[in-house]
Parts: sequence; C-alpha cells; structure tokens
Amino acid sequence: MALLLCSTIGRMLGVIFSLLLAALSQCSAYDCSAHPWIDETVKHWFRASYETARNSDKTIEESLEAIANIQWGKYYTGKSMGILTYDDSVGAYHVTFKELHRHNEPHKPAGMQRVIERAIMQHNADLVRALGKKELKFIFGTEDFPIVDTWLNLRLPSFQMCHSPETADVPVPDFTWELYSQAQYTNNSWWEVRRLLLLKSAMLPWKLRERDLFMRGDAGVGYRKVLMPFMHEVQVRGNECRSRKVSGSLSIDRGGFQGLEAAGPDQLGIHGRRRKREEYFQ
Ligand SMILES: *[C@@H]1O[C@H](CO)[C@@H](O)[C@H](O)[C@H]1NC(C)=O
Repeated sequence: MALLLCSTIGRMLGVIFSLLLAALSQCSAYDCSAHPWIDETVKHWFRASYETARNSDKTIEESLEAIANIQWGKYYTGKSMGILTYDDSVGAYHVTFKELHRHNEPHKPAGMQRVIERAIMQHNADLVRALGKKELKFIFGTEDFPIVDTWLNLRLPSFQMCHSPETADVPVPDFTWELYSQAQYTNNSWWEVRRLLLLKSAMLPWKLRERDLFMRGDAGVGYRKVLMPFMHEVQVRGNECRSRKVSGSLSIDRGGFQGLEAAGPDQLGIHGRRRKREEYFQ
C-alpha cells in the first residue's frame, strides 16, 4: 500500500534516506524542503524511538546488540545490519550488509538492500555532509510484525515494515517485491510494475469485484491455522455455527500465536500479550 501511495521512486529513496539520517541526533545538514511531507512523516514515525532514546541508559552498541538478540518465541527474528562507511579512495559512502539472523525468505533482505544501495548512491553528497564521514550502523528486519518494545528503552529503533503503539520500530516501505521470485518478473523496474498494476486494475471495474475474502499462502501458520478450519465450518454450516464457541490455543514455539481464540464469526477475540501487535497484522 505504501508503494501505491508514492508516485515516484525518487521520493521513496528520499524517504529511506531521511529515515537513515533521522537515526542521527542531528539531521540539520539535510534539507527536507523539497518534499515537506517527508519531514513530517519522519518526525511522526521517530517519535516513539526518540522517547525511548531519551530514557535509555544503554550505549548505541549495547542497543544494537539488544536488537540483534530479539527473539520471537525461541526464534531470532530475521534481521540484517547495514553499515555505512566512508571510502576515502572514492570519496563516497558505501554500504555493506551483515545478516544477523536468517530471514525467512532470501529475497526479503535482498530486496531491501537493493533499495538502500540505490538511496545511498543517489544521496551520497548529502550523506557526506550530514555524517561527516562517520560510520553509521542500522538494523532492519523483514518480519511482518514490529520487534522493539518501548519498555526496552533502547537508544535506537529497528527498521521494520510494521509499527504498533507499544513498539519503537520505525516502519519502512516493503521493497521485497522487486526480487519476489514467485512473481517471475521479466522486468521488475518500478515503472514496469506500476504499469502492470494499473493495467490489471483497469481490467476489472469496481462494480464487478467480489466482496468475498480470499487468501493465498500457507494455511498452517499463525492466525490462519485456527481461522481456516473455522472459516470452512462457517462456509459449510452457515449461520448454524454462529453461536457456537470455537477456541484454540496456539503456541508461539509451534509457529502460531499464543492463546488465539475465536468466539463466533463476527467476533474474533485475540488474547494474550501480543494482542495489540496482532491488530497490526494485515
Ligand atoms: C523495463 O520497463 C521500463 C518501463 O516500462 C522500461 O523503461 C525499461 O526499458 C525496461 N527494461 C528492460 C530491461 O526491458
């Protein structure tokens, strides 16, 4: 969705770039006046992170280490570190990436790295002005949930594709689509994918669209593990099962969510510590 809201790739690179710079305490060297909305967006999404940074008694290195060690159940969430270093021989910044914990699909970090590399190339002069040749490290993750709880009071956020009121992660657009192997793009440039989206969209007028939900993907994980049998039952028995309580309990360790409980087709109540977080799953 974030992708569709943006009309040019240049602006998106600007957002990524601004997000990187905002990770510094001073970003005065960067002039955001060309796209004033970027400035506001960055301020908005960094609010929680600035707050935790003010309350933090950890160093930057300790905070990076704490983020690297964040787990979901017994698994480390997929994440990589980007390291920006100034190369004196070339007179420019370049970025290297280090995988901290395996991402669940290889195309995910690859897609994110590619857009970061492009942003750094395009905005190198601004980076040099803003960072003064200092090294900059940041961590990005590719899970579909935020990971840095505000109570950890870290000095830094992680860059995730999601955010919730209880977390200090800074949401960044999902750029993993470019290298999404199942799509088999022969030309995966932004402009070509945009053209495809508009073309396909125009092929089906709104009045002909179905209201039914559909889902693609694995029914054996997370929410879906409980929802799919439940939806099937609703489909087969219709209103008959409206009053019946359906409940299930999934363990995070088994790849699901703890204490997921469905109380009827109209009310799906999700309990437990991660409740708020789940609400941000789309
Ligand atoms: C990919 O698509 C874009 C936009 O449609 C086009 O400008 C570009 O030349 C294409 N690239 C290749 C390698 O075909």
